[in-house]
Amino acid sequence: MTFETKQEILDWYENQPRALTDDFIRNIPWNSVKDHAFDRKFIPVLLYMRDVETLTDMYYRELRRTPTGRDPVISKFMERWGIEEVTHGEVLNRFLNEIGVETDDMWQTQVRRSVSTGYNVNAYIITMLTNLIGSKFTATHMTFGAIHEMTTAQSYRQLMDLADHPVLTTILKGIIREESAHTQFYWSVARLELRKNDIAKKLARFVIENFYYPVGQGSKPRAQTEYTIATLFGEGGGLDSLETTITQRVQQLPGFGDVTKITDTIGRICRENAPQLNSA
Ligand SMILES: [Fe+2]
Ligand SMILES: [Fe+2]
Repeated sequence: MTFETKQEILDWYENQPRALTDDFIRNIPWNSVKDHAFDRKFIPVLLYMRDVETLTDMYYRELRRTPTGRDPVISKFMERWGIEEVTHGEVLNRFLNEIGVETDDMWQTQVRRSVSTGYNVNAYIITMLTNLIGSKFTATHMTFGAIHEMTTAQSYRQLMDLADHPVLTTILKGIIREESAHTQFYWSVARLELRKNDIAKKLARFVIENFYYPVGQGSKPRAQTEYTIATLFGEGGGLDSLETTITQRVQQLPGFGDVTKITDTIGRICRENAPQLNSA
């Protein structure tokens, strides 16, 4: 799909039906979750993913204070996007409950509260800087967003294959459908914004090459990010799959023809964390 305006991209997105409707969630065979084996090493991974999904609204609030978030098309997208991500967190939490991981009624509030002040200060500085640079930063935001959505979707695919739990598979297939629509939105807007001018292109590339971090890092402790990545991508051809699902797609963006930063970063985390995981 090739779009020529942001409005066309938004129209496309708004035409996508939700995968995780109330009906879909009600019809998940929750009662049979316990009938299937589930390797407990994936519990911290699910908790991490649940928390990152839940923290989306914090990121959304930050972004609304920047020129990107004030763009009428992008903010319209973000209204629905924010709701979808929160649903992902809720469904994952329900799955955790069904496999016997108890969570408090206030878990969402606790997740938001647990974000370090360091992160909040950082977010404030970034918001300030972004406002100084203005709308030329939109391309960077959108590229970052596209990469985060792609890596999230790929993480869910890996989890689906490795955990091999039929009910989790049903849930993750629904989530992945929504993540793919998010990717399409971010990626398409990034492409248009990067094409607009050279400064935006250089800035986006500079930021990704120097400041790319895996989704959730910063708001969640580094050790949790690394455990999740190493568990999901350290085995089963995980790294090879990133090449086609992420790197090659990022390289199609204007100015990103030879960028390998994402695969490099994830590969490094897998290598550095392999010994600890194997001895765990
Ligand atoms: Fe999500
Ligand atoms: Fe998403």
